[in-house]
Amino acid sequence: MASKLCPSVLRAAPRALRAVSRPQVRAFAATNRNGSESLAVHRDTPENNPSIPFEFNEQNKKLMEEILSRYPSQYKKAAVMPLLDLGQRQHGFTSISVMNEVARILEMPPMRVYEVASFYTMYNRSPVGKYHLQVCTTTPCMLRDSDAVMKAIEDELGIHPGHTTEDGVFTFSEVECLGACVNAPMIQINDDYYEDLTYDKTIQLLRQLREAAVTSNPAKVPQPGPLSGRSTCENAVGLTSLKGDMPDFTKGLRTDGALD
Ligand code: FES
Repeated sequence: MASKLCPSVLRAAPRALRAVSRPQVRAFAATNRNGSESLAVHRDTPENNPSIPFEFNEQNKKLMEEILSRYPSQYKKAAVMPLLDLGQRQHGFTSISVMNEVARILEMPPMRVYEVASFYTMYNRSPVGKYHLQVCTTTPCMLRDSDAVMKAIEDELGIHPGHTTEDGVFTFSEVECLGACVNAPMIQINDDYYEDLTYDKTIQLLRQLREAAVTSNPAKVPQPGPLSGRSTCENAVGLTSLKGDMPDFTKGLRTDGALD
């Protein structure tokens, strides 16, 4: 009855007003959450389509045999992740042809391989630059100013997360915790971690990497690890306890049979 007396437009009005007055809340992530900075679906492109042949090279075929030997032959599909990784290292990214070849070798339906490759963000399903900069912006890194690291990259390279520089040297991604929070803020560059970063240290690091790329001299790539002077994850302000001489822990210990 009420619905007849009160037109639907009037009944919907309070709800619409509540929606308008609701405060606008910014999402946690500043950038789109695209695994490997690409679409979750595959689109054929000139550099990534199933007609491009892919085969493991001789060296990787040997590695593949070694990997497969770790699993019972009826469960060889368990090797899908290391084989995708091997394919990515050889080809530069996890192309559709890499996935198809892994599916063929492991006798899996290709869709099962696509599901794995599109779930884990370490598989780059589109080409990345020579140096893949993965900046952690999760809470511990954010509290120690990962924003400055992000800004340094944007200022120095003129790109935003998800983009590659025109010369193909750098790809920039924003990622979640990489497990090096004690040395925050940090970047993973290819397989290495660079830690304890500041705005200036990030700029310097990028310039050294560019020089290494331009001169094709890997010796110019800076040593990974903390860039603050500490050697690993020891207290950044030095020792604060256990500063005296080590006590003699052997004193007062019973020898075998002392209680007999
Ligand atoms: S929060 Fe950045 S490495 Fe853990």
